[in-house]
Amino acid sequence: MAEKILVTGGAGYIGSHTSVVLQEAGYEVLIIDNLSNARAEVIDRIAEITGKKPDFTQLDLCNSEDLHAFFDRHPDIAGAIHFAAHKSVNESSRFPLKYYHNNLAGTINLLQAMERANCHNLVFSSSCTVYGQPDQLPVSEEAPLKKAFSPYGNTKRMCEEIIRDQAEANSLQAIALRYFNPIGAHESARIGELPLGVPNNLVPYLTQTAAGKRESLKVFGQDYSTHDGTGIRDYIHVTDLAEAHLKAIKRLLKKENKASAEVFNLGTGTGYSVMDIIRTFEKVTGVRVKHEITDRRAGDIEKVWADPGKANQELGWKARFGLDDMLRSAWKWEQSLKE
Ligand code: UFG
Repeated sequence: MAEKILVTGGAGYIGSHTSVVLQEAGYEVLIIDNLSNARAEVIDRIAEITGKKPDFTQLDLCNSEDLHAFFDRHPDIAGAIHFAAHKSVNESSRFPLKYYHNNLAGTINLLQAMERANCHNLVFSSSCTVYGQPDQLPVSEEAPLKKAFSPYGNTKRMCEEIIRDQAEANSLQAIALRYFNPIGAHESARIGELPLGVPNNLVPYLTQTAAGKRESLKVFGQDYSTHDGTGIRDYIHVTDLAEAHLKAIKRLLKKENKASAEVFNLGTGTGYSVMDIIRTFEKVTGVRVKHEITDRRAGDIEKVWADPGKANQELGWKARFGLDDMLRSAWKWEQSLKE
């Protein structure tokens, strides 16, 4: 019998790619998602890619009664991968309580439901935002956590702490994966990132500009202390991230983890500037991206890239895709969207 893995937020961007990889590895995937920032048809797209429809329940993690009832109906879940959360940095600064309530209550309810159901393995979707602007680059897991620049970032750090406390006090075994900047889409272009309204993130804004949906890409600041003055990030292909989640849940199921709460950075180890991204996109697609330099965006850090050494050695995971592949797949996905 295939082991059952619960994926919260499984209809979302990273959750859907991870659900595909889990199914392809032979796991039975159960998705819960409140569809607040995802579409139900993603479930059918996952089925198209893998040949098997994941079990889907529309459910809000803030509703603990529904969540307990869900675990009662599925008493044999081997582990959970927890993506479900609000994720807009910008929105979180305007509506902090929405973020604290949803992201913290959802995580606490999940932990309570898992404890009650004797489900002890959890992989948590965290972010390099917990490092703020690090003092040293590349940033390793040893780097001190800093005050986040946004309520969203704070919720990631706080959830990591809640999970660590629960793992120390109970039988929970947890891995927090700190993503750098996920971009790109599944090679089939059947699933990808679906930003609602005007995108906040660089790559969806760029592909929409290239597609003629946006007038011009704004490059936020050209006076940073970087090789061309624009901000540097460690971009990582969403398929590589999905594969890291598979490795992480396997590590827990096989009891190979070395502590009850572990953290791993997920990045390529290479940083690229905003101008590097624009030029590489133009090179691999042959499509021009109209852009203009504007002021810095409030709250942006200058530069960050990962030391992925711990994930390479301990998880046996290494990013396979380079920037060309990431941007090519993001463009293929954009072109597949009709509206
Ligand atoms: N940028 C632009 N123009 C845009 C959008 C972004 O120039 O229209 C620049 C930003 O200034 C930054 C880079 O592109 O230098 C990347 O910006 P993103 O918005 O794509 O990503 P961030 O690094 O700001 O944020 C991401 C995730 C967050 C996470 C954060 C952690 O979206 O969820 O990384 O550092 F918290």
